[in-house]
Amino acid sequence: MNTALITTIENNALEAIGSIKDLGTLARFETEFLGRKSELSNLLKELKNLSPEEKRATGPKLQALREKLQMLHSEKQAELENNARDWEAERLDVTAPGISQAVGHLHPITVLEHEVLGIFERLGFLVAEGPEAETEWYNFDALNFPKDHPARDMQDTFWIVGGGAKIKQGKKGDEKERLLMRTHTSPNQVRFMEHNKPPFRVIVPGRVFRNEATDASHEHTFHQFECLMLDETGKVSVATFKHVAETFFENFFGKKVTIRLRPSYFPFTEPSFEFDISCVLCDSAGCSTCKQTGWLEIGGAGMVHQNVLVAAGYPKGKYQGFAWGFGLTRLAMMKYKITDIRQFMSGDLRFIRQF
Ligand code: FA5
Repeated sequence: MNTALITTIENNALEAIGSIKDLGTLARFETEFLGRKSELSNLLKELKNLSPEEKRATGPKLQALREKLQMLHSEKQAELENNARDWEAERLDVTAPGISQAVGHLHPITVLEHEVLGIFERLGFLVAEGPEAETEWYNFDALNFPKDHPARDMQDTFWIVGGGAKIKQGKKGDEKERLLMRTHTSPNQVRFMEHNKPPFRVIVPGRVFRNEATDASHEHTFHQFECLMLDETGKVSVATFKHVAETFFENFFGKKVTIRLRPSYFPFTEPSFEFDISCVLCDSAGCSTCKQTGWLEIGGAGMVHQNVLVAAGYPKGKYQGFAWGFGLTRLAMMKYKITDIRQFMSGDLRFIRQF
């Protein structure tokens, strides 16, 4: 094979590529020097007809030339593409103001829950939690609810159809196995007592569920707090409860409040009370939130019934204390002056973003 021809191809290619100024000419260069019908490709095809000695002498030269031309082509292509870029359009103005990212924040109920927990923790209370899907035993039986209590029926309770098989608190087929969505946070009284011995003070926050028609002050899903303080008989009284409740609300609202107890009935407390606080919005002068009464209804409370203490495994008469349950969502309405409770869980971002 004529090696002079290889040199000629190389010289011609080097001369041609040196003068290329645009991508169109570069494409023609590629066809002419590296294309399937180029002189170089023809020479590579002819290799198979050469003697082994000639192949050894010429093959590597042809391959080296091909690689060199491919490299020159790539370099030229990069150079021309770089020249063609619109640098002005791509210029980054590092002084331009950034695009602000929307950052989420905690739900107002969660913020309030943290605030409430913080106050109780400073008063020496432990924080505990319990399951939202609860057994009939903890939600009703252990809390001394009579078997025919109306709260158990379909109007108040969301029963879980077929639920219970995996819960091991009772024997199979036992009523402890029936599952429901807890209707209050009180089941956690018994759950906590089962694993702890008095004296203790504990607070249990949580979502609760009631199968009832909703309106401006009633939700089917809302947040409650359970508060429990137990000690040996004679050491915790209704006066202790009043003091704890007053201290809590004074911290929460940042002003002096008065507690008012009204006789009531809960199966799990004896005596039982509904309790109100002096209206913090109008300082008891009368406003739309307190319905001109000067009082705000807060929750239920009482001295824990001995039947509950026995259900939790304590000896009858040895311990005594108060339990107290209040609606956090209603508290949020008072704090933020929200007139319709349903807004909290509406998922309406225009509402949530105000907090
Ligand atoms: C109870 O749930 C009792 N477990 C409270 C208790 C605990 C009493 C310990 C004694 C000892 P009640 O059903 O009244 O009680 O609910 C307590 C509070 O939850 C109410 O005062 C109210 O603030 C709130 N609440 C009740 N129903 C709703 C509802 N549908 N929507 C929003 N908040 C509610």
